[in-house]
Amino acid sequence: MATSIEQSVKKGWISGLGSNGRRMARIVCAAVVAIFFSTWTADARAEAAGAKMPSDSASLRESARTVFDALPAEAVNPANPSSPAKIELGRILYYDPRFSKNQEISCNTCHLLDRFGVDGLPTSKGHRDERGKRNAPSVYNAALHIAQFWDGRAADVEAQAKGPVLNPIEMAMPSEAAVLGVIRSIPGYAPLFAAAFPQESEPLTYDNMAKAIGAFERKLMTPGPFDAFLRGDDAALSAAQRAGLEQFMSSGCIICHQGPAVGGAMYQKLGLIKPYPTDDPGREAVTGNAADRQVFKVPSLRNVAHTGPYFHDGSIAQLDDAIRIMGEHQLGVALSAAQIASIRTFLEALTGRVDETFVARPALPPSGPTTPRPDPS
Ligand code: HEC
Ligand code: HEC
Repeated sequence: MATSIEQSVKKGWISGLGSNGRRMARIVCAAVVAIFFSTWTADARAEAAGAKMPSDSASLRESARTVFDALPAEAVNPANPSSPAKIELGRILYYDPRFSKNQEISCNTCHLLDRFGVDGLPTSKGHRDERGKRNAPSVYNAALHIAQFWDGRAADVEAQAKGPVLNPIEMAMPSEAAVLGVIRSIPGYAPLFAAAFPQESEPLTYDNMAKAIGAFERKLMTPGPFDAFLRGDDAALSAAQRAGLEQFMSSGCIICHQGPAVGGAMYQKLGLIKPYPTDDPGREAVTGNAADRQVFKVPSLRNVAHTGPYFHDGSIAQLDDAIRIMGEHQLGVALSAAQIASIRTFLEALTGRVDETFVARPALPPSGPTTPRPDPS
C-alpha cells in the first residue's frame, strides 16, 4: 500500500494541488501518516498472521488529529455574520416551495433535513420531474467545504443558494425579480427580512435571501461518535470502529478524505491511478483547463452510511462498492472483503446527530392576495 502512495507522490499529483500552504502541510502529513500506518499494519500482519493488533487509543487519536478535526458548531463566514433572526429567515426560506415555478419544490425537496440532507435518489427530480446529471450531495456540514457543488463552481453556501431557484430543471423561477415578487407578495416576509438585516434600508433583496439560507446552512453540523473520540473519549468508538479508522488511514483514504468533514477539502481526479469511466468533465467545465478533466471535489464522508447512492452521478448503490472502487481507482489496491467491511464500520461512526429543533419544519408565512398561483408549464 505504501508503494501505491509513493507512486502517486512520484506521479506528481501531490505537488499539483495548489499553493495553500496549510492544506499542503496537511496532505504531506497525511501521506506520512498513511505510509507510517501501512508499514505498521504490514509488520503487525506479519507478526500476528493476519490478526489486527489491539490498538492504543491514545496514539490512534494523536495520528487521527493530524488529518481530521472535530466538527465546529458553525462554519463561520465573516462576510455573513449569523444572528438568530437571519437563521430563522433562512430556515423558512429553505422549506418554502413558493419560490419554485410550480410551487411544489423547496430546498428540502432534494436535501431532506430529516434524511441526512439528501433525497436518496441517483439524480434528483426537479421542475416537471426533470432530472439533472448529478447526485444531490448533503447540505449537512457542506458549509465547511472549500467550495460548493461536485465541481466547486460556487464559492460558498451563500453563492450556491442563488443557483437552484433559477435553475430551469430545479426550481425553475424565470428571474430574480420574479422571486422577489413572490417574496413581496407574502406579507409575513418583510418583517422577517427587516429583522434579519436590521442595518439595511432595503433588506428584501435576492442576495439577502441567499445570505439568510447560507446562515442557516452554516449551522447544519452533525457531530457524532468520531468527534467525541477526537475530543478525547476513548469509549466513543468501538474496538471495531477504531480498527476501521486505522484501516482507513493505512489504506491511504486520508490523502483525500481529511479535515473536519472527512472530505470537502480539496479537488482530486476520479480515476487517479486507474481510469474511471464517466462522461462528466468535472472541474474542467469550471476552469477550462484540460488537466481538470474528471477532477471533482473530494466529497465529505460525514453521514455517508445514509447518503447513498454514491458518486457524482449517483451510480453506485452500495457503500461497500464505493469503498472497493476507491481502493482500485484512487489507490491502486484491491481491498479485501474484510478490509472493506472494516472501513465501512469506521464510516458508520461518522453518522452524526441532527439537532431536531434546529431543522424542524417551520410554519410558513401565509400567501397574500397577489401571491402568484402555481405554474406547471
Ligand atoms: C431539484 C433538486 C434540488 C433542489 C430543489 C435544490 N438542490 Fe441543492 N443540489 C442539487 C444537486 C443535484 C446538487 C449537485 C449539483 C452539482 O454538483 O452540479 C446540489 C448541490 C447543492 C449544494 C452543494 C453541496 C456540496 O457538497 O457541494 C448545496 C449546499 C445545496 N445544493 C443547497 C441547496 C439549497 C440551499 C437549495 C434551495 C435554495 C437547493 N440546494 C435546492 C439538487 C437540488
Ligand atoms: C486520490 C483521492 C482519493 C482517495 C485516495 C480516496 N478517495 Fe474517495 N473519493 C474521491 C473523489 C474525487 C470522490 C468523488 C467521486 C465522484 O465524483 O464520483 C470520492 C468518493 C468517495 C465516496 C463516495 C461518497 C459520496 O457521497 O458519493 C466514498 C464512500 C469514498 N470516496 C471513500 C473512500 C475510501 C474508503 C477511500 C480509501 C479506500 C477513498 N475514498 C480514497 C477521492 C479519493
